Amino acid sequence: MRLQGKTALVTGATSGIGQAIAQVFVREGAQVIITGRNKERGQAVVEAIRLAGGSAVFIAANLASQRDIESLAVQALNAFGRIDILVNNAGLLLSGATGQTDEATFDAVVATNFKAPFYLTAALAPQMAERRAGKIINITTISAHRGFPTASLYGATKAALTLLTKAWASEFGPNGINVNAIAPGPVRTPGAEESMGERLDQVASMLPARRVGFPSEIAEAALYLASEEASFIHGAILPIDGGRLAI
Ligand SMILES: NC(=O)c1ccc[n+]([C@@H]2O[C@H](COP(=O)([O-])OP(=O)(O)OC[C@H]3O[C@@H](n4cnc5c(N)ncnc54)[C@H](OP(=O)(O)O)[C@@H]3O)[C@@H](O)[C@H]2O)c1
Repeated sequence: MRLQGKTALVTGATSGIGQAIAQVFVREGAQVIITGRNKERGQAVVEAIRLAGGSAVFIAANLASQRDIESLAVQALNAFGRIDILVNNAGLLLSGATGQTDEATFDAVVATNFKAPFYLTAALAPQMAERRAGKIINITTISAHRGFPTASLYGATKAALTLLTKAWASEFGPNGINVNAIAPGPVRTPGAEESMGERLDQVASMLPARRVGFPSEIAEAALYLASEEASFIHGAILPIDGGRLAI
């Protein structure tokens, strides 16, 4: 087991990619904190993990709230004593025209996709640095690297997270912390189906892979970045995108 004895906090683990990452981490021996706003889905994920013999805890948090972010970090450290792996996965997948984006939407997307990873990392990186060991994995997107017409705000928040990945690699790498990102292409999740609908399959049909990705394909990459095998990787952006960024 590649994460035996490790503790992990996975944001947005009540659904889609985050849930898959949590399940793969548990499979590899980690104790995992599942977090999101939806208590029912969170408890269901924890229950499924426990039934399969794993160890997980759900902590409810709205990452658009600064108070919730601080409280989540404290509760997570109280639950397991330390957090070895932080996955900044929670995100609002917004697809829409710039001129039709109201201020409340703008603020929610920036808060969830950019501000929350910033402050959660600020809260948890110091205890990793003290032990001179830790892994931080940011989930970005291919939209951070290309100018898609319906992804101006979404792509910009993830481009900011992409830059944070590199800045944090520089800031925390000397303290023994590996900071990296995964940039997924289209992956079939509840969030992607809601925001993209039929466009999910249309976009996927143009990829070298000619199909939509599975959450487990992102999760296995996250496992690699969280494992000791990735110990010399700092500030990398790993596209798991069916080849979209190659064309
Ligand atoms: N699926 C794709 O095609 C795709 C492609 C590229 C990148 N991504 C990225 O992958 C990540 C996961 O996306 P997904 O496709 O798995 O989407 P999803 O099915 O919608 O899951 C999103 C997760 O984020 C959580 N979340 C959203 N807003 C939150 C908030 N304010 N506070 C706390 N948790 C919040 C949700 O939990 P609650 O609802 O319980 O709060 C949920 O667990 C996102 O960062 C997304 O940008 C996805």
